Amino acid sequence: MTDRYAVIGNPIGFSKSPLIHGTFAQATGQDIDYTAIEGPLGGFAGAADAFRAAGGLGLNITAPFKLDAFAYATERSERAQLAGAANAMKFDGERVLAENFDGVGLVRDVTHNLNQPLKGKRVLLLGAGGAARGALLPFLAQEPAGLVIAHRSVDKALELARIGAGHGAVRGCAYTDLVGQRFDVVFNATSASLRAELPPVPASVFAHCALAYELAYGKGLTPFLRLAQNAGVQQLADGVGMLAEQAAEAFAWWRGVRPDTRAVIDKLTVPLV
Ligand code: ATR
Repeated sequence: MTDRYAVIGNPIGFSKSPLIHGTFAQATGQDIDYTAIEGPLGGFAGAADAFRAAGGLGLNITAPFKLDAFAYATERSERAQLAGAANAMKFDGERVLAENFDGVGLVRDVTHNLNQPLKGKRVLLLGAGGAARGALLPFLAQEPAGLVIAHRSVDKALELARIGAGHGAVRGCAYTDLVGQRFDVVFNATSASLRAELPPVPASVFAHCALAYELAYGKGLTPFLRLAQNAGVQQLADGVGMLAEQAAEAFAWWRGVRPDTRAVIDKLTVPLV
């Protein structure tokens, strides 16, 4: 029997997950059916119940349901707990397992696809929302020389740094504190690019920077990437690889086989112009 999986969100029309998982299934010879569900706002639990009752084995979760999915689960991985959010679930009878693969997907994209090891590097993370929280532990597991989190209200940056403190060298600061500081890799985990805005980051952070990474996907050359480019950063990337890699992690978790992501990344890449 064909095993059923889906992505749930609202809206869901633009989700690339059915295409990604369909490509993975074909490449690995896995017999799965992967669809997209538009969950009613405020009705996540009912939609998840119905999917499970119909034999569904796993869900990917996107906005605005990542916190609802976390609450719905009966077991949560450490990564999901730290992020306070789930982007993948696995159903096993009465058990509902929650995971968050966004951060590990991001790290795999950077270290594997983009060939930028984070070990020993000075890493700057802009933003302290859901995406930044998900990246915190996976970043620190790479043992950077230091991870700095900048946020427009310093308290939120300090809070996130406190959470990561037991896991590596991390500190929080305000954007204004970044003047004069240098970083090897800079990540934009704010949602500013979704509105074509620029987080208030001083261009000087890019002086010795090898990679500027925009976690948002498909927005072309965002104001953040343009600033980095104008400052002379050689390598620019958006979140297409992160999207593919987090999907591959979920696929491997569900099916026990890890698909290659190259074809998906090539298919979904939007030029950074
Ligand atoms: P996501 O799940 O994509 O991380 P989020 O949890 O809403 O979304 O987090 C978005 C982050 O981007 C927040 O840290 C937000 O700052 P606030 O907490 O102050 O809202 C940050 N952000 C959004 N627009 C920004 C901008 N123009 N400049 C700087 N930070 C911005």
